[in-house]
Amino acid sequence: MIILAAALLLMLQLSSADAQLGGAGPAPGCPIPDTCGNVTVPYPFGIRAGCSLPGFNLTCDQTRHPPRLLLGDDGTLEIVEISLVNSTVRAMDVAGAVNISNYVGPGPEGSGTWRGLGSGSNDSTYILSEQHNQFVVTGCNVQGTLLLGDSGNIITGCSSFCSIRDTWTDPVVSNDPRNGTATCSGIGCCETAIPIGRPSYSVQFKDLDPNHENDGRLPMAVRVAERGWFDSVATHMLDNSAGNSVLQTAVPVVLEWAVASTRIVLPGTTSPDSGGGNSSCPVDAARSACRSSHSTCHNVADNYRTGYVCRCKDGYDGNPYLAGDDGCQDINECALRGKCFGVCTNTAGSYECRCRRGARGNPYMEDGCIKSSLGLSVGLGVGSGAGLLVVALGATFAARRIKHQRERVLKQKFFKKNRGHLLQQLLSQNADIAERMIIPLVELEKATNNFDKTRKLGGGGHGIVYKGILSDLHVVAIKKSKVAIQREIDEFINELKCQTLEPQGAFHLIKQGLLRLSKEH
Ligand SMILES: *[C@@H]1O[C@H](CO)[C@@H](O)[C@H](O)[C@H]1NC(C)=O
Ligand SMILES: *[C@@H]1O[C@H](CO)[C@@H](O)[C@H](O)[C@H]1NC(C)=O
Ligand SMILES: *[C@@H]1O[C@H](CO)[C@@H](O)[C@H](O)[C@H]1NC(C)=O
Ligand SMILES: *[C@@H]1O[C@H](CO)[C@@H](O)[C@H](O)[C@H]1NC(C)=O
Ligand SMILES: *[C@@H]1O[C@H](CO)[C@@H](O)[C@H](O)[C@H]1NC(C)=O
Ligand SMILES: *[C@@H]1O[C@H](CO)[C@@H](O)[C@H](O)[C@H]1NC(C)=O
Ligand SMILES: *[C@@H]1O[C@H](CO)[C@@H](O)[C@H](O)[C@H]1NC(C)=O
Repeated sequence: MIILAAALLLMLQLSSADAQLGGAGPAPGCPIPDTCGNVTVPYPFGIRAGCSLPGFNLTCDQTRHPPRLLLGDDGTLEIVEISLVNSTVRAMDVAGAVNISNYVGPGPEGSGTWRGLGSGSNDSTYILSEQHNQFVVTGCNVQGTLLLGDSGNIITGCSSFCSIRDTWTDPVVSNDPRNGTATCSGIGCCETAIPIGRPSYSVQFKDLDPNHENDGRLPMAVRVAERGWFDSVATHMLDNSAGNSVLQTAVPVVLEWAVASTRIVLPGTTSPDSGGGNSSCPVDAARSACRSSHSTCHNVADNYRTGYVCRCKDGYDGNPYLAGDDGCQDINECALRGKCFGVCTNTAGSYECRCRRGARGNPYMEDGCIKSSLGLSVGLGVGSGAGLLVVALGATFAARRIKHQRERVLKQKFFKKNRGHLLQQLLSQNADIAERMIIPLVELEKATNNFDKTRKLGGGGHGIVYKGILSDLHVVAIKKSKVAIQREIDEFINELKCQTLEPQGAFHLIKQGLLRLSKEH
């Protein structure tokens, strides 16, 4: 009894820990998804109490029109787009260029901070995306360097130079004729990749011009910006007449986020308030923030922090952080353009694509399916001691004169009606016989010289029997039924079944409607 109570208590404790770790999802009543202005705010993000995962609460500033979605404690990062698929947010850094505070200029140097999420932030949910941003410096004969915020180690930097004789009619940003991409030429501006993603950086700025000949010719600024942004606005950013407004122009940046993010503690340094423990994908699925049953968990580890992100499985789309109908949903590939050019069947997490009956080839390609010349009519050939008995069942021939399309449908129908599938299945156990059992219509036509009158052996109310010579020179009788009598077909199949099961046994299949021929015919 006591043990039971203890176990129960442990369970209760565990489940309250789950809520903290994200297993619980948003509180009831949270809008799914929420919006701020025209920005969609999907879970794990939230702008209301209890509606986000820890570390993902944002502020929706309703005092502005349209409202602004803000990140961080100083309101300088305004989120314009949240991507669950890429685990990124795009934000406008409304602070603009880094404020080089103690650079009084013209002077030797100054320094500042790219505040990002606020100076000294220990929050590791977001870091600057290495892949999507770059470091940009403008000015004449200046050097900018980017440093780790907390240790002062230099990460990267670049210098921008101007000659006194430069005429500013020359393009500072050169257009690459090969691919049309503009890049900063190094005159008046420079840009470089940021190889280490952090929530904030220190910045140093140096005047490399001892004579200050170029002072004031260009706006001097250091920026952390989304790749490609500067090149698209360089003309404006290098316009000195625009004054301070240039330095205060909002700059787009891309941040990467992760769930249960924990700062990596380097050996020998003191631990920030990391909360400890593993922050990669939880072993216990119930504790995972990946709540959709069609989601997978992916570890995130960089040189700053560890954590994880959730993704919908292949073939699913939606929000992996939500359970049930709000979570990842099957993609109906058949409704998407260009996925399948044949017969498309959507399945859970995937789809099937085939060429139509009677065609073969590549159904994933436009016009990839080619009509097969072999019909799928059924001819039944049954070997017997002296000769071969072949019965062509079905009124397929009648359909031949009708349009191609209808013909295929009919063939299919008769194949089914005449127990073609059963026969196929039966014969699949004996590949050798099977090969001779199901004969394409074209071959039957060839064997009877297109059902020539001279090949007619006889006939009755139910159909006509022709003499046929197969390509392997076997002489056979082929019955073209006017009416397929279901009972006859069933009996025939049954006989065949016995025969297949006892291939050595004598085979007498002489029944009404079925003819037996010997070689001399
Ligand atoms: C949101 O609105 C702003 C201006 O109000 C516009 O510039 C922006 O393109 C809009 N974003 C989306 C995703 O519609
Ligand atoms: C997020 O929630 C924490 C704890 O409730 C709070 O201290 C912080 O100010 C919130 N941040 C934002 C941007 O609302
Ligand atoms: C996600 O990343 C891909 C590849 O980098 C990009 O093409 C796409 O636009 C991104 N989507 C969003 C919403 O950021
Ligand atoms: C830059 O920093 C200085 C000193 O911290 C401050 O006085 C000034 O207002 C800041 N400028 C801007 C544009 O924020
Ligand atoms: C365009 O060409 C330049 C020079 O070859 C190259 O550095 C740059 O990466 C190219 N840009 C793209 C988008 O391919
Ligand atoms: C960040 O962590 C460091 C080291 O633990 C601490 O000194 C600092 O006060 C923290 N900063 C904030 C804003 O919590
Ligand atoms: C932490 O990670 C280690 C290996 O990286 C693993 O063996 C252990 O089970 C994890 N612990 C938790 C609580 O996830």
